[in-house]
Amino acid sequence: MTASPVLELRDLHKVFPLRGTFGRVRGEVRAVDGVSLSIPKGQVYGLAGESGSGKSTIARMIMGLTRPTGGDILLDGVSILGRQASLAHRRKVQMVFQNPGASLNPRRTVGQSIRVPLDAHGFPGNRQRRVAALLEMVQLPRHFAERYPHELSGGQKQRVAIARALAVEPRLLVLDEPTSALDVSVQARIIELLEDLGGELGLTYLFISHDLSLMRNFAQTVGVLYRGRIVETGAVAQVFGAPQHDYTRLLLASVPVISAEEEAMRPAIPLINGEIPTAEDLLALRQQARSKERQA
Ligand SMILES: Nc1ncnc2c1ncn2[C@@H]1O[C@H](COP(=O)(O)OP(=O)(O)O)[C@@H](O)[C@H]1O
Ligand SMILES: [Mg+2]
Repeated sequence: MTASPVLELRDLHKVFPLRGTFGRVRGEVRAVDGVSLSIPKGQVYGLAGESGSGKSTIARMIMGLTRPTGGDILLDGVSILGRQASLAHRRKVQMVFQNPGASLNPRRTVGQSIRVPLDAHGFPGNRQRRVAALLEMVQLPRHFAERYPHELSGGQKQRVAIARALAVEPRLLVLDEPTSALDVSVQARIIELLEDLGGELGLTYLFISHDLSLMRNFAQTVGVLYRGRIVETGAVAQVFGAPQHDYTRLLLASVPVISAEEEAMRPAIPLINGEIPTAEDLLALRQQARSKERQA
């Protein structure tokens, strides 16, 4: 018998009502539109896609922060959507968010922040020792337990966020653009850390990013998400070496984002008549923008 995958998404859907002025429902957004994937133990699955493609909505559903409108989510073969889904089961999946500044409480010391999930899940053992061990795991000195987030660099904050996620010994880490707010040199070191921890602790990762150069080095399998659907999936070398879908080629062709400032300046996908544009629309828009740049 083969073991269940650590994570399995089955035909997952999320539809948001689209509200106009006065909160009237004007339509719906199919943010996630029938996504299926599975991640075996110890593997890194890279979920790629532009802003607005549905990546964070998938992450939030896996974390139980928003409820799917259809489909199922299984952890180690057990649905997390059923009423019997326990706190013990919830503990198995933890998340690292894009912005380490916003995900750490500024009024808590590093040690206090790392202790929160330990207390929430009633984790046994000496707290101080556990915090010191976790800081060591993410290669920070133990005296950092007394520091406040504002005393830390972006990379150090993200290491604390990783330590906090690891505190309750999860099986799966959902990484939602974990390095896109960081400088390039820091990004690579955080990825290295995640790789080392994955090997040591036997972790499984869902790595969400629009940065395909990072994904290429980190993930074994990729899924390319486009308008809430996985349009292409396979081994990293196969998808990146010979992309089959226009949209994958488009993603591969885009200039890598190098800083938080640039990321903030990147336009979101423009809506065409209130619809998310097709890959062909996007290609046309990009070509227009490029020829304008050339003329300027
Ligand atoms: N709470 C919400 N209410 C309405 N629409 C939402 C909500 N959250 C996300 N969306 C929409 O769902 C789509 C996917 O968003 P998201 O999952 O955040 O994409 P990504 O993380 O890939 O940038 C977008 O069109 C977004 O505007
Ligand atoms: Mg997102």
